Order: sequence, then C-alpha cells, then structure tokens
Amino acid sequence: MKTTLSVIKADIGSLAGHHVVHPDTIAAANKILAEAKRNNVISDYYITYVGDDLQLIMTHNRGELDTKVHETAWNAFKEAAKVAKDLGLYAAGQDLLSDSFSGNLRGMGPGIAEMEFEERPAEPVVIFMADKTEPGAYNLPLYKIFADPFNTAGLVIDPTMHEGYKFEVLDVYEGESIILNTPEETYDLLALIGTPSRYIVRRVYRKADNLQASVVSVERLNLIAGKYVGKDDPVMVVRAQHGLPALGEILEAFTVPYLVPGWMRGSHYGPLMPVSQKDARATRFDGPPRLVGLGFNIKNGKLVGPTDLFDDPAFDEVRRTAVIIADYIRKHGPFMPHRLEPQEMEYTTLPLVIEKLKNRFKKETDMYKTKPSVYSHESSHE
Ligand code: 13P
Ligand code: 13P
Ligand code: MG
Ligand code: MG
Ligand code: MG
Ligand code: MG
Repeated sequence: MKTTLSVIKADIGSLAGHHVVHPDTIAAANKILAEAKRNNVISDYYITYVGDDLQLIMTHNRGELDTKVHETAWNAFKEAAKVAKDLGLYAAGQDLLSDSFSGNLRGMGPGIAEMEFEERPAEPVVIFMADKTEPGAYNLPLYKIFADPFNTAGLVIDPTMHEGYKFEVLDVYEGESIILNTPEETYDLLALIGTPSRYIVRRVYRKADNLQASVVSVERLNLIAGKYVGKDDPVMVVRAQHGLPALGEILEAFTVPYLVPGWMRGSHYGPLMPVSQKDARATRFDGPPRLVGLGFNIKNGKLVGPTDLFDDPAFDEVRRTAVIIADYIRKHGPFMPHRLEPQEMEYTTLPLVIEKLKNRFKKETDMYKTKPSVYSHESSHE
C-alpha cells in the first residue's frame, strides 16, 4: 500500500510579533490531529513550528489533496487561530485567507507539500521548514542536491543516480509548469530557476525510474491574495539514501547561507540560516530567514523520529557566516539589493507611498523610450 506524507503549514498568529508560535495554539492543533488519528483519517503525525509558522507533518494512505486530510489540517489551523485570537496573539489567523473550506486547501493560504510513494524497506525523509522566506528559496539547494556533483558525490559514484534527475518547475506568474532533465538541460534549468520569485522547483524525480524524490510547497501568498500577507515560509520534503542523495549530501546544500527574499516585512534579501528547533524563532530584523531540518524514517505509515538535523556544531560556522552577511547587508538599509526589486514590492505597502508622490513628478524628457518588459507580469514568453 502506498503512503502519503503531507506537510501542511500556516501562520495562525504568533507571540510578540512575527516571532514564534505559542504552545497553546500547538495544543489546540494537537487535539484535532489526535482525533483524526483515532478516527483513522491519518496514520501518524508530528506537530512543530518554525518561527511563527505552525507545521503539521502527517502520514496517511489517502493520496495527495485528500479532502479529509486537508479538512483536518484546516480545522487544526482554525482551532489554533481561535486560541491565538483569545490570547490576543499577533496577526491571529494570518494565513487563513478564506472563511470556509471547500474540497482542499489549495489557494486558501496554507503551504502544502505532499508526496505519495511506495515505502522502501527503509524510508528516510528530511522535512525542511523555513520562516521569513518564499518557496523559490529551495531552488538553489535543490539544484545542488540533485544536479551538482561538487555537492552530491552520488551523482558521480552511484550508478543508480548517475543518469540524473528531472526537475518540475512551476511559473507562478503564468500557472504553467515545465520538466527539465539534468545533467543535459542544466543550463536551461538554471536560466529559469535563477529567478526564484517566479520559477519554483516544485518536484524532483529520479530519471532512471521516475521515483519522486522531493516536493516543495509552492503557495505564494501575495500572488494568491493580491496584497501583502506576510511571507510564504515554505516547506520541502526530500527522500534520502539508496539511489537518492545521502542525508549528508542533502544537508551539504545548506552550508552556504545564500541570500533569499523575505526577512523584515517580506521585503528584504537576507541569509538563510540553518538552525536547530530551539533556535527556530525570528528575532533580528524579524529573522534572519531561518531553516529547520527534521529527519524521520517512515515505516508502515508511522513516523519514526525526528532528529533535529541542524542542531550540530558542524553548522556553527554557517550560522556565524549568516550573521556576518546579515550585518553587512543590513547596512544597506532601505536600498536595493537589500530591499527587494520593485515587482516584488508590488504587494507591500510601498506602492501606496509612491502613489502619493505621483502628482509631484514633472514631465522632462522623451529620451527614455523603452521599459524593460521583464518587469511586466504579462510578459511570459519573450
Ligand atoms: P556508514 O559506514 O557509517 O554506514 O556510512 C555509509 C555512507 O555511505 C555514508 O555516506
Ligand atoms: P511572516 O510571513 O513570517 O508572518 O512574516 C511577516 C513579516 O512581515 C515579518 O516582518
Ligand atoms: Mg506572521
Ligand atoms: Mg512566518
Ligand atoms: Mg508567512
Ligand atoms: Mg551505516
């Protein structure tokens, strides 16, 4: 029988700003998931948080986008949001963009990463959960994990990995997807996913047999809501070992705190800092963007674990580098490239400020005749 792993998350309100999930809201979600487990809607679950995002990790055998499983998650978020409201927590119900549940959670605010698979005799999985960034933040590490032999030795050494992987990329401006094969289409892949605000790696498959190796939550809240509703704070599942990248090859992709969009007001680039669960709290300038990695094994639908993968001195220097980068880039204040580019600021409150200045501009010249179409949302295929 196939097992489905569903990682569904939402910001339902948080303590002292966009900082951390309150334990009482976790308890409220736990009640709902415990009941769903008793009623055999789900086989097992683990609840945690990263910053102000409540994370529901669930296993079951109902497949992806299952109404009962999604409704369970929705009820858990609703109950948790109720508690958040009663406690007067900040931004209670923040990511719940719709009032009523209809079928599944797609487009309703929560981030969803689901994968159905035949369990291998040993099924190691890593669940990555980030706060203060967006789904495209996983583009670079996914490339390193599944396509860069300088990161992943198995691409060279292991005959079952040697053929490479397929990347499914979603264009979130157009709602279209494309599949690109590595290593032969590496440069085409990079041409797209180097624009991570628009082209998001959603799934990765092993080329030899189409085995799915990874899935990412692709929900971009601002594009769904048409206004600023915080950052998407994405989750990702990566299966490990036995013809897939080793656990250590997966984690190796996070040894550089590369710059990702998000951080303060969802409007700034900052270093992605891998942290332990105990450090999964947004503090400095509401960040820096943080990443937690939990390792599990799945056996007969049960979650064995977790182990807190970045709770390790081997990542201390990465964190130190992240702080140095944070110090440096913060000195740019409101200037790009610390602040995001204009098309990404469109959903923040910045346009309101600029609108106020509109009438004070005086026409001067016709010398500048062209506008870069790459900044237009409509221009997808130029
Ligand atoms: P062990 O000998 O510790 O099992 O290591 C095997 C391995 O391949 C590590 O990447
Ligand atoms: P969240 O998406 O984590 O709520 O972040 C919102 C924000 O504005 C942080 O400064
Ligand atoms: Mg928040
Ligand atoms: Mg968040
Ligand atoms: Mg958010
Ligand atoms: Mg061993």
